Amino acid sequence: MSKLIYILNGPNLNLLGKRQPEVYGHETLADVEAQCQKAATSAGLSQKMLQSNHEGQIVDWIQEAREDAAGIIINPAALTHYSIAVLDALNAFDGPVIEVHISQIHKREAFRHKSYVSHRADAVMAGFGTHGYALAMQHMAHLLGEN
Ligand code: DQA
Repeated sequence: MSKLIYILNGPNLNLLGKRQPEVYGHETLADVEAQCQKAATSAGLSQKMLQSNHEGQIVDWIQEAREDAAGIIINPAALTHYSIAVLDALNAFDGPVIEVHISQIHKREAFRHKSYVSHRADAVMAGFGTHGYALAMQHMAHLLGEN
C-alpha cells in the first residue's frame, strides 16, 4: 500500500484564488490538490488534502496523522507565526514535515518572518507560489526514499 501524506492548510486558504491574487495567485486549493496528486502518484505516494480555519482542527489532524500518515506537508497560514499548539503537535509526529508558504514570507511584513513551525520542519518552501506544494510532494518522496 502506498504511503499516505497529509497536506494541511490553515486559515483563509479556502479562499485561495480569490484572496489577494496579487500575493497568492489565481489557482484554487482544488487546483493545488490536483497538482499534488500528480506529483504523489508519480512518486508512488497517496495524499489527503485538508483545510481548516480553526487551530484546534489543525492540531487534531496532526494528531490523526501520527496514526495514518508517513509525512506531513503543511501551510499553517497565519498559525505559522503564533501557534505553539501547532508546533507542539508537529513535535509529536515522527515522520518528515515540510512547511510550505505560497508567498516569500521573508520579503513581507516583519511579523511574517517568524515561524514557530520552522522549529520542527525538515524543509521550508516559501515564494514558489502554489507550485511549491507539488515541489514539496516531490521532496517528501525523496525524504521517504520513494524515488
Ligand atoms: C502564507 C503566508 C502567511 O503569512 C499568511 O498568513 C497566509 C499564507 C503563504 O502561503 O504565503 O495565510 O502561509
